[in-house]
Amino acid sequence: MLFFRGLPVITLALSKGRIYDQTAPLLDAAGVTARDDPATSRKLILATTRPDVRLIIVRAADVPTYVQYGAADLGVAGKDTLDEHGGQGLYQPIDLQIARCRLVVAVPEGFDYQRAVRQGARLRVATKYARTAREHFAAKGVHVDLIKLYGSMELAPLTGLADAIVDLVDTGNTLRANRLKAVEEIAPVSARLIVNQAALRVKRAAIQPLLDAFARAVS
Ligand code: ATP
Ligand code: PRP
Repeated sequence: MLFFRGLPVITLALSKGRIYDQTAPLLDAAGVTARDDPATSRKLILATTRPDVRLIIVRAADVPTYVQYGAADLGVAGKDTLDEHGGQGLYQPIDLQIARCRLVVAVPEGFDYQRAVRQGARLRVATKYARTAREHFAAKGVHVDLIKLYGSMELAPLTGLADAIVDLVDTGNTLRANRLKAVEEIAPVSARLIVNQAALRVKRAAIQPLLDAFARAVS
């Protein structure tokens, strides 16, 4: 365990972009401000105005893994990535109500998805959310072949790679720009504060005030 002047150091994992940008004001309210801006700095470990709190910058999908294994005590991750990860070893105390969007099934504008489902068609579905998509379609009894992608899912139906996608939608601009439509909502999504369960037991005195500050900043 790392210490600063007898205090355990708390490590918080964040991803660059919307999660960092929308978490920063909550952290400010908790008295924690990064000393470098991850948008311009190449540093992956950021010191903060609190010498006993540091931030690490990781890919969005890797935040739950860092916290699960205790490489970070806390993290901020979308419910989409948490569901895909499975949540083992994680305590999820606070819905931060940021980075809100929806996980949906989307298809080309001219495609009759409900009809295809009624007819028992086998659909090719491209997504980076393979686990969540598998569970969703299994629960509906829809036969699918899943194709794992890492981004730009909207391209898959336009190029013949897939019939449908499972992806995030916020304003709907990306779907519209690519002549796709949402046909089914799988889950509403927002970012959650996550905590390593063992760290919470061992470092509770240090972590609990931060959780309380986050909770106050959200409400
Ligand atoms: P990477 O950039 O590493 O490939 P990513 O694209 O998932 O990962 P972000 O785009 O920063 O990373 O998304 C992080 C989280 O923000 C997502 O897991 C989701 O919870 C949320 N999110 C993604 N897109 C939107 C959106 N358009 N509007 C609101 N929230 C979103
Ligand atoms: C996300 C998501 C969609 C888009 C939806 O992509 O994967 O493509 O936002 O938002 P909208 O409904 O408001 O258009 P993002 O902007 O994060 O780009 P990237 O993940 O492809 O980098």
